[in-house]
Amino acid sequence: MSPELARAESLIRSIPDHPSPGILFRDITPLLADADALQATTEALVTPFAGTFDVVAGVEARGFILAGSAAVVAGTGLVPIRKAGKLPRPAASVDYALEYGTATIEMHDDLPAGTRILLIDDVLATGGTLDAGRQLIERLGYVVAGISVLFEIEGLGGREVVGDVHTVFRSA
Ligand code: PRP
Repeated sequence: MSPELARAESLIRSIPDHPSPGILFRDITPLLADADALQATTEALVTPFAGTFDVVAGVEARGFILAGSAAVVAGTGLVPIRKAGKLPRPAASVDYALEYGTATIEMHDDLPAGTRILLIDDVLATGGTLDAGRQLIERLGYVVAGISVLFEIEGLGGREVVGDVHTVFRSA
């Protein structure tokens, strides 16, 4: 790992019992607030997939932040995958279980069929969110070019659920 990435990783805070007892919350806001850390982690998210995707998709809400910076670095557009009820004309929706609760995500279908999408999120935990994101993308006739995540919480089975996923940082 480069010194820039190691420094960025050191800025991720672990908050016990948030948002509910027993959950160790990974708070990336100190990393996001640091220009060098944001630049290094954004490049680490997209570089392995350079030239293989047409657009970036991010999952609400924290995934939006990294997908936005990733799209600018990659020179592509950005598609939001939103929680239910937020998009004006969702073309499809997928329900999924979260580490703490349940949720539904939705997406528009304004891209040409076959568009290659790099799916980005901040954290991989149980994998439910990104598995649902993959299903949503494929249901609309697009191609998942790759899945890239800032922080993987190991031991929750996320990698087994999502399959081929690139993670910049990971921790047990
Ligand atoms: C968090 C995180 C990931 C997801 C990971 O999102 O941002 O999207 O959980 O968990 P999983 O691998 O078990 O699915 P959350 O739904 O808490 O929403 P937020 O981004 O709006 O905080």
